[in-house]
Amino acid sequence: MRVARTVAWAIAPLAALAQPSLAEGLSPVEQLGKSLFFDGNLSANGVQSCSFCHDPGQGFTSAHGQFNAAGAVVEGAVPGRFGNRKPPSAAYASFSPVLSHIIDDGDVTFVGGDFLDGRATGGKLGMPIADQAQGPFLNPAEMAMPAAACVVWRVMHPKDPAAYPVTLAQVWGKDVAGVAFPEGLEASCADPDAKIDIPEGEMADGIDAAFDRIALSIAAYEKSAEVNRFSSRYDKWTRGEGKLSDEELAGLELFKAEDKGNCAACHVLGPNTQGGPAVFTDWTFDNLGVPRNRDNPYYTQAANKEGKDWVDPGLGGYLKTDPVFAPYAEANMARQQVPTLRNLTLRTGADMPKAYMHNGYFKTLEGVVHFYNTRDVLPACADPAASEAEALAANCWPAPEYAATMNKDELGNLKLTAKEEAELVAFLRTLDDE
Ligand code: HEC
Ligand code: HEC
Repeated sequence: MRVARTVAWAIAPLAALAQPSLAEGLSPVEQLGKSLFFDGNLSANGVQSCSFCHDPGQGFTSAHGQFNAAGAVVEGAVPGRFGNRKPPSAAYASFSPVLSHIIDDGDVTFVGGDFLDGRATGGKLGMPIADQAQGPFLNPAEMAMPAAACVVWRVMHPKDPAAYPVTLAQVWGKDVAGVAFPEGLEASCADPDAKIDIPEGEMADGIDAAFDRIALSIAAYEKSAEVNRFSSRYDKWTRGEGKLSDEELAGLELFKAEDKGNCAACHVLGPNTQGGPAVFTDWTFDNLGVPRNRDNPYYTQAANKEGKDWVDPGLGGYLKTDPVFAPYAEANMARQQVPTLRNLTLRTGADMPKAYMHNGYFKTLEGVVHFYNTRDVLPACADPAASEAEALAANCWPAPEYAATMNKDELGNLKLTAKEEAELVAFLRTLDDE
């Protein structure tokens, strides 16, 4: 059953989106969340579901080869509109704790939240993964719905009722029973730029409550065992159910060793926040000095007032918006959240390109590992906008996108041999769910 569905996605993604089958092993709220996750009608163009940018067959990242191979940002539901980051994995993101900060010896370390800059803090709905789920629907560069009311209306009036074997009303009962909508709302919902103002009061409260339940349902699906499978060859090996090759085991040792790869310093191997197997992140933030991706479409977007000079502000950009945290913004500029390393090479087809890091600069794991190993050793590329392939060919690295906060202690000159780099890559490949 699972195998059959994966194949269907690979061949005809849009057809599959419209009809999630009642999956085995999902609770009613998880099934509702799954229907929502695959519902293209919850976007301005009627086809951009969450799965459009987070495809299960691609490790819950983008399966759009033309974007992955270049700027790595996926076009939103409104043609020509792009955000500024690559879609990270939606799987395993639910393990991130509520954003908090730890003060140790005068140093302040931020931990948790979802999105690469942690701005889905979990402060609204109690968990980052639920706060996150409200963002894409209303983001003009993503699903581009004009108002939460439109999302709620469409969820309560599904275009394809068969795609909702479990409805919002069935799961949430009286919490959503009294929802009312303004006259003529439906017609305005087709226009992403429509101004839809619902005055404070009972109607607005009802819609907000339903929008919260929609996010909580998606979160339930993203927390389910169907999304977070822990079924990789690595997991089987840790359970004593399968073997890893000598090369893969050597890679694991390098991954752990502080005087070798040192990867586990950030991509931790211990139990996750729920006590289960590793998800390979400590949910902190770092600036690795990744070069700019010259093909990032955001450089030429009207919404970007800085044009070519734009630098991804990462965590610092979010902290700036909070009066309590603003004093820490500068020190956290360009720091991105440590991502999971699960499903790095899952793809919907043998030729489907992948993109790594916040801006998708890297297309290969070989390039990523070589960068960790030699960032501070190789000369700066003559062309500061060199692509990964060009840099590898010329044996150089372009300057970092943002240098001031770059981590110089834990990476950059690992002194690994070519064989050791290959062993690390071999280990990373054992982390794909089956
Ligand atoms: C147009 C592409 C696109 C669509 C559609 C989209 N996302 Fe995303 N998603 C992204 C990008 C880009 C990011 C990273 C954004 C950032 O960090 O600012 C992201 C981040 C996330 C994350 C956080 C991952 C992490 O490691 O912090 C989750 C979870 C997620 N999306 C789930 C969803 C859900 C649920 C929906 C539907 C309601 C959705 N996405 C729709 C592109 C998309
Ligand atoms: C100091 C913390 C730290 C260390 C040490 C570290 N990483 Fe990372 N890793 C990160 C952060 C932060 C990112 C995301 C950076 C970005 O998007 O700009 C990342 C991203 C990655 C990615 C890209 C994942 C994706 O989905 O885009 C891979 C692969 C990776 N790391 C592998 C490794 C390996 C292998 C090692 C050891 C050689 C390592 N990391 C060591 C913090 C670290």
